[in-house]
Amino acid sequence: MTTTATVASLDDIGADPPDLTNYWHPVLESAEVTADAPIGFELLGRRLVAFREDGQARVLEDLCIHRGTALSLGWITPEGCIACPYHGWEYNGDGRCVRIPAFEPGSPIPSGAGVKSFATTERYGLVWVALADPVAPITEWPSGEWEDPNVEIWYSHRYSWHASAARTVENFLDVSHFPFLHDGLLGSRDQTVIGPSDVAETDYGFYVSYKALEPGGVHSPSGTEVHWEYFLWLPFSVHLRKGTPDGHSTVVSLACRPTNDDSNELFLWLSRNYDLGVDRTGFHEFTHEIMEGDRRVVESQRPVPLPVRLTEELHLRGPDAAALAYRRALGPIGGI
Ligand code: FES
Ligand SMILES: [Fe+2]
Repeated sequence: MTTTATVASLDDIGADPPDLTNYWHPVLESAEVTADAPIGFELLGRRLVAFREDGQARVLEDLCIHRGTALSLGWITPEGCIACPYHGWEYNGDGRCVRIPAFEPGSPIPSGAGVKSFATTERYGLVWVALADPVAPITEWPSGEWEDPNVEIWYSHRYSWHASAARTVENFLDVSHFPFLHDGLLGSRDQTVIGPSDVAETDYGFYVSYKALEPGGVHSPSGTEVHWEYFLWLPFSVHLRKGTPDGHSTVVSLACRPTNDDSNELFLWLSRNYDLGVDRTGFHEFTHEIMEGDRRVVESQRPVPLPVRLTEELHLRGPDAAALAYRRALGPIGGI
């Protein structure tokens, strides 16, 4: 893992309250960021470009200071710099222009010749970026599943949704849609009442827990008491753990890149402490079917940004407990 920034405290970043720029966001798979070619992407509506310099993932503004060209259309030089496709200016990973081909070699480079570079790190096979000093760490798994040799954990799915990251995460936290969108997969129309849940604030966001009886026709035997737990890491990472009395634990984890106001990139991991070494195809297809059911609905929601003011939309005490906790937590840092 390589890191080019550390976590700042609120004191360090002054009086401005943190917003979405002050968090790490997953942006690309590590394998997509190479020393062979730059790759452009968007984060919070900002055009960025990634490349690998001396093995380290670097992220710059995708905008040449000379004439505003996208650097992602350029190439990587043998020295590991990114070259602009228009007049060939070369920038290193810090965003400093180190060569202007129209000048004689050795000529001084204008002091303003540079582009903004951003804090970049790699974790869980992804590249993460913070646009401003981060105030919180990158998510961790609820019980150390990532490092646990008795658990199988793997990166499983990636999607681009035409929906806000916050609407996407809230859907992941929503349990009362199971009998409708996921009838026969996660719930049943015969069992639509949502029991009480516990919501607790944590230093990373919040935790929600509730118990439900497994309806017939889904994955555990009918009538099994299932313990559902959500671990929400602000702003857009969440782990859903399903525990059954026989000790089986399944974790579905989601982290979203807020691409811009109306689209986001979803990265998913699956983990389980049972069926080790067993073919994963069925689990993958099951998860994909659930995600596709969710996508159709979430992409239809209006307004596109998640309303974080609780006076907007209509909330149910109890069934919407997790969504309420999310909107309350997201409000101060700004929704999307
Ligand atoms: S626009 Fe980039 S070098 Fe001229
Ligand atoms: Fe769903």
